[in-house]
Amino acid sequence: MTSASGARRIPSLSTSGLLGHLPAFRSDPLALLLDGFDTHGDAVDFRLFNRRLALLAHPELVRHTLQDQAANYDKRTRGFEVLRLLLRDGLLTSEGEHWLQQRRIAQPAFHKARIAGFGDSISAAADALADDWLERRHPEDATTGERVVDVTAAMMKLTLRIIGQTLLSADVTGAADRVSRALEITLAHANDALARIIPRPLWWPTPAARQLRQAMATLDRVILDIIAERRHQTAAPDDLLTMLMSSRDADTGESMSDPQLRDEVMTIFLAGHETTAIALAWTWYLLAQHPKTQRRVETEVDQTVGDRQPGVADLPHLSYIARVVKEAMRLYPPAWVISRNAVADDDAGRFRVQKGTIVLLSPYVTHRHPQFWRRPAHFDPEHFAEDQEAARPPFAYFPFGGGPRQCIGNTFALMELVLVVATLARRCRLELVEPPDVGTSPSITLRPDRPIRMRILSRERLAQGARA
Ligand code: HEM
Repeated sequence: MTSASGARRIPSLSTSGLLGHLPAFRSDPLALLLDGFDTHGDAVDFRLFNRRLALLAHPELVRHTLQDQAANYDKRTRGFEVLRLLLRDGLLTSEGEHWLQQRRIAQPAFHKARIAGFGDSISAAADALADDWLERRHPEDATTGERVVDVTAAMMKLTLRIIGQTLLSADVTGAADRVSRALEITLAHANDALARIIPRPLWWPTPAARQLRQAMATLDRVILDIIAERRHQTAAPDDLLTMLMSSRDADTGESMSDPQLRDEVMTIFLAGHETTAIALAWTWYLLAQHPKTQRRVETEVDQTVGDRQPGVADLPHLSYIARVVKEAMRLYPPAWVISRNAVADDDAGRFRVQKGTIVLLSPYVTHRHPQFWRRPAHFDPEHFAEDQEAARPPFAYFPFGGGPRQCIGNTFALMELVLVVATLARRCRLELVEPPDVGTSPSITLRPDRPIRMRILSRERLAQGARA
């Protein structure tokens, strides 16, 4: 069926049975999305029991949804419903006037020049991790004499420490194992709720719901206490919270209230730490499988920083590492799907999108679109060489989303990714312990489906061995 404008219905991936694609979506959503893309191309429709979902995979369609017609695609979707329970009216989950005002107030805090000040604390946190990894007399290494870590868990701890320091000037990993435990419970709940056909309300009388309410109360208390303390301080620390507290809407002069600040702090904690940790874990995994790329990373950092800690001033000279982390996020985008609800009927390019359709934009699928990527299945940082980047339309690569709701922390995240890789690669080489067959476990983020066990080698000792 075509509309008056000539747009046609989005083709459906065939399915039978009451539940439609729901079982496939629950067991392996990435395989289902790729199957739809392989079968029908740039736009394909799925049926999940009684809900219809449309994947739009062409960069032009992604741009249409996230940018050009963003007003017609809101966040009233199942995924955001779940997140909204936890993040309330924070930037990620709020909409309309409230969101716009919050975004205006928060934006200056994420300006490149302001976040540059966090570079040193990012590198210092990564350097402290290298110290810990290379400590010879670590109890875990007593039997084998070498250190083996689950790199995802290690990166989660590191990025939590970094966001704790840059956002709140607090050592969240130590002062609050409570906080990190509460964040873990909250995320686990969100992941679990996404997998259910009918979400459970927060007041549900189960031990899991009680545990979640306690976790959220802990986070509320810690965050609100910090905000209250700040309101009385004369010399505020130089962190994101101070910036958010002192920012004003340029038009109205308004600043944020305490509950608003709480929602934003919680959002930044959740949005900012797991995504970055996942990107780093996949980066180490890919580097270990590509020794030539790994050596080139090491050479770049050796030549650029030598034997000191990398800093923000080095970033322009760490361009190969930047390509590597971008390529890791191409193959394993932490936010593997972005969902929207069509507010009204709309023509997206050649396709008719009906009101109420849940539209999925998937960086995981579009980042493999053969029209825009040479050898899309291969890890190749040259995909981000200047000429190749310039030849691609902007929404062929969108790990941070796009349009008005683009990730506010994207510059922060890229700075963090490059500095962490440079700092650790200067001192350590990470080797896979088991054969490289780690799969994906897509929940809110694209987690690895098992621990990625890696052996930590000291580059200094490797160099001594090579000289001996
Ligand atoms: C590799 C790391 C990261 C990835 C892949 C990522 C990805 C994304 C994506 C895809 C969105 C858009 C969601 C949508 O349109 O529905 C988003 C939004 C957001 N991100 Fe990130 N993010 C990362 C790091 C960060 C960091 C470090 C922070 C904060 C310090 C952050 C804070 C936010 C916030 C507040 C939003 C909501 C923005 C709004 O709607 O106004 N993110 N992120």
